[in-house]
Amino acid sequence: MRTIAVVNQKGGCGKTITSINLSAFLAREQRRVLLVDMDPQGHATLGLLTDAVHPSRTMYEVFVEEPGEQLTTLRDVIRTVRENLDVAPADILLSGVPEALAGQIGREDILSDAFASLSDDYDYVIVDCPPNVGLLTFNALKACSEAIVPVDPSFFALHGIGKLLETFDVLAKETGHQIAVRALVTLYSGRTAFAKAVADDIRHHLYGRHFDTVIRYSVKLAEAASHGVPIAHYSKYCVGFEDYQALAVEVLQQEAAMSSNEYVAIEGNAIPESAEAYCAEPSAPEVTSRGVMFTIEARHAAQVQLMGDFNDWNLDGSEMEPVDGIWTKVVNLPPGRYRYRYIVDGRWQSDPLNGAVEPSPYGGLDSILVVEEQLAG
Ligand SMILES: Nc1ncnc2c1ncn2[C@@H]1O[C@H](COP(=O)(O)OP(=O)(O)OP(=O)(O)O)[C@@H](O)[C@H]1O
Ligand SMILES: [Mg+2]
Repeated sequence: MRTIAVVNQKGGCGKTITSINLSAFLAREQRRVLLVDMDPQGHATLGLLTDAVHPSRTMYEVFVEEPGEQLTTLRDVIRTVRENLDVAPADILLSGVPEALAGQIGREDILSDAFASLSDDYDYVIVDCPPNVGLLTFNALKACSEAIVPVDPSFFALHGIGKLLETFDVLAKETGHQIAVRALVTLYSGRTAFAKAVADDIRHHLYGRHFDTVIRYSVKLAEAASHGVPIAHYSKYCVGFEDYQALAVEVLQQEAAMSSNEYVAIEGNAIPESAEAYCAEPSAPEVTSRGVMFTIEARHAAQVQLMGDFNDWNLDGSEMEPVDGIWTKVVNLPPGRYRYRYIVDGRWQSDPLNGAVEPSPYGGLDSILVVEEQLAG
């Protein structure tokens, strides 16, 4: 059984359309497919089940046991869509799962345990993830051995994918599970030079960890989803049909060609203390549960350092880590008022995204950070 999470914390990049249409084309190729909807928006559910078969039992029940009720298994919620294609539906209730399971041991393994019970019922399980990196996505990543990352060639695409790959790396350090990650360019409009350049960049950046198939912009895809039908059963004569069919062929070809060097190790059990820490946007320093996170964008820099009175303006251990031009460093700081500066390729500068500055005794401006008592730690 191949288990594939369709994941990207960025919204609207084609996760759900990819989940639905890849599932449908794999089913047409006589593979037994289950699509698991892990997004409280329930779009994959809506895109496959029409109102007439409104789901009564959903993924929420697989995660949260109602008092006095029998335990719900994944099998109990699965609905048949058509030959070879089933769906495990979700709705807005699923958004209550993280709160309902707060502090519960093993809460990140619920989906993976549920998959174990499916044993040989399916050839493919495709998981449509929500647009964030929380407990639901973490469950999906731990339950799956592969991930497809849809990327729409927008201005922020590369930044987003860098952050996501960093998330995989962080998970790799904290868990004991292997996952193969591949990016898929979606919503591609070859007419603009910009989209072409971004798609080229993605190929270049990901060193082969991407699909050759590119999903072009196709109005029919959205239209089909709004009718609760995959493109495979809606219109043969559109690029959406061609592209998702080609994606399914590529996925099938990988059955034989999976190589170990494409895997990112995921070890252990812990949910990242602060998922937000792995999704850094450049900003003024932010307090996270791991400490204060400093971020600065410096796309062409070879080295960026962070210095401040908290490290006695010392160069030792001051290096920041880059992901796609966004440099970050987390520092554990007790409540207090601090001065700091970045050193970008040897040049001192104050934080461009922090308006709080004061003249430095040594010239120039120092950035000012105040860590409040109630937020610290
Ligand atoms: N190739 C495409 N051509 C045209 N429209 C598309 C294409 N792919 C997706 N869309 C449309 O773009 C919108 C976003 O797609 P989709 O819902 O698949 O993204 P998503 O990543 O699942 O979003 P979310 O993060 O909210 O779950 C939808 O309206 C969808 O119908
Ligand atoms: Mg979606």
